[in-house]
Amino acid sequence: MPDNTLPSPVKLPVIEGPTQPAPSPELADLYRGFEQEMLIPLWYEIGDLMPGKPQAKAAPWLWKWSDLLPLAEQAGDIVQVGRGGERRAIALANPTLGGRPYISPTLWCAIQYLGPGEDAPYHRHTQNAFRFVVEGEGVWTLVNGDPIPMRRGDFLPQGTWNWHGHFNPTDQPMAWIDGLDIPFQYATDSTFFEFGPEQFTDEERTTPQQSRSERLWQYGGLTPEKYAAQPIPFSPLFAYRWANTDAALTQQLAMEAEGHDVTVEPGHAAVRYTNPTNAGDVLPTIRTSIHRLRKGAATAPRREVGSSVFQVFDGAGKVSVGDRTWSVTRGDIFVVPSWTTFSISSEASASDSDSGALDLFRFADTPIFEKLDLYRSEIDA
Ligand SMILES: [Fe+2]
Repeated sequence: MPDNTLPSPVKLPVIEGPTQPAPSPELADLYRGFEQEMLIPLWYEIGDLMPGKPQAKAAPWLWKWSDLLPLAEQAGDIVQVGRGGERRAIALANPTLGGRPYISPTLWCAIQYLGPGEDAPYHRHTQNAFRFVVEGEGVWTLVNGDPIPMRRGDFLPQGTWNWHGHFNPTDQPMAWIDGLDIPFQYATDSTFFEFGPEQFTDEERTTPQQSRSERLWQYGGLTPEKYAAQPIPFSPLFAYRWANTDAALTQQLAMEAEGHDVTVEPGHAAVRYTNPTNAGDVLPTIRTSIHRLRKGAATAPRREVGSSVFQVFDGAGKVSVGDRTWSVTRGDIFVVPSWTTFSISSEASASDSDSGALDLFRFADTPIFEKLDLYRSEIDA
């Protein structure tokens, strides 16, 4: 028997329009019956449910690092970090997503802040996660008991269901960004979460310069024979160091200058972080990459299914997303909603550390749509 104790949320006032049936008392009576039985006819909703192309629910938006960091520091003074709240992580809330802590319908992006001597306790969850460090150092991330140092430019992915925590053994605070697929897993009711031990052990609380994960997996193209036939769905390499990323980008632009066709477009070098066990994305649901635009270079305007988030790592530039245009500099974070045209250009500025190039970290939900054969992209000529 149906449970009729819930009030029906379905409201179907008779509406007029070219695709609607002619209003009549009989139609109104039919709609009362639909409301009572919780039924909604397709003719009533089709324009919203099945538009001709994606109508992004998220808005293009920019958060300035110069606004985020002082608020994270303020939280550091006032808010304890520990069991329960788990992390001093402050999520970027897209203004058109109903006040939820989502930067896009699928992605979470937060600034996390850990003060001197503080711990963020062990837990694990099905959500895939990563850290990216735009400035500072001094925090170690523990993954399954393996302490991993975090420094400027490092990318630290952490696939589903690994135990993880953070500790800061230094006398300086540190902030970084976290990216996760929380909204996607929340919307699809696929989330699991467990608390870990209250304290880190003395053995865990060590500060090696190199993690065990890196000692095993950092040698690109050299897979430990023991694991060669066992693809792992997330990357077992838990830190991708800036020195390697920087060298790869530098070589791409140098080779382009020598006449080789190795960049994604003129003046635009890019590398994708990949899983050494299967050459795919580091995380099953999130694609991550670093882009370097030579001074004066610009990307072709493009749009893609799915949403992405950029953080400026170095340099400065102009960004256009939909009908918004911003000047960006180190640390700034912006979101590109689904099927929204965007382009980025590099401009010299006082915040450059090098040649005037613009370096950007990007994360996107692309793997979800590729796996489901829903991914599309277009580039404006
Ligand atoms: Fe976590």
